Amino acid sequence: MSRTVYNTATSLDGFIATEDHSLEWLFSADGGDALKDTEDFIRKAGAVVCGAGTYEWLLGHEGVEAWPYEVPSWVLTHRKLPRMEGDVRFASADTDQELRDLHAEAVEAAGGRDVWLVGGGGIAADLARLGLLDEVVVSIAPVTLGSGAPLLAGRVDLRVVDVRRAGDFACARYEVVRP
Ligand SMILES: NC(=O)c1ccc[n+]([C@@H]2O[C@H](COP(=O)([O-])OP(=O)(O)OC[C@H]3O[C@@H](n4cnc5c(N)ncnc54)[C@H](OP(=O)(O)O)[C@@H]3O)[C@@H](O)[C@H]2O)c1
Repeated sequence: MSRTVYNTATSLDGFIATEDHSLEWLFSADGGDALKDTEDFIRKAGAVVCGAGTYEWLLGHEGVEAWPYEVPSWVLTHRKLPRMEGDVRFASADTDQELRDLHAEAVEAAGGRDVWLVGGGGIAADLARLGLLDEVVVSIAPVTLGSGAPLLAGRVDLRVVDVRRAGDFACARYEVVRP
């Protein structure tokens, strides 16, 4: 059965990027085999959902020529963003029903595989509030940032399923407790 999984890296104090969208803090830490786990998860995912901020980070990132994922991908935005080559579908979801419909489309496209929510924390919290987020998987970098893009922009109740160490990271998997 398809699960919707927010799989991301975070600082210890719960930010997925700095105010100016830098991820330097993430790539400068020793992640051990955490990256391999994430790559395995990504390889098995059947659809991708992300926000405009996440898409724009990839768009501006040196060496990223095309959308890096082959599966159907939804980018939530209110703007007309430059298109990267690949199966990218721009959409907006301003009501709960629109977000439910978009999520249902992604689940259908995933064909029984997982839907990967790449980021960010606003969409993750919205999906959780609607009972549409199943898991949060985090690789916690050994750093605090003080401010930035929040991991989860709202209250989400979680139940820990697994915790392990990978290099200098703590990796944890949580099930979302249904509202
Ligand atoms: N640490 C990690 O592993 C990791 C993973 C993913 C992302 N990131 C980073 O985190 C940062 C992005 O975080 P973010 O908080 O800005 O989140 P984001 O969700 O990527 O982008 C937020 C934007 O998405 C659009 N959006 C969100 N919900 C929408 C909806 N329901 N309908 C239409 N548009 C919607 C809005 O853009 P509009 O302006 O178009 O309205 C909103 O400003 C980036 O710097 C990214 O690189 C880090």
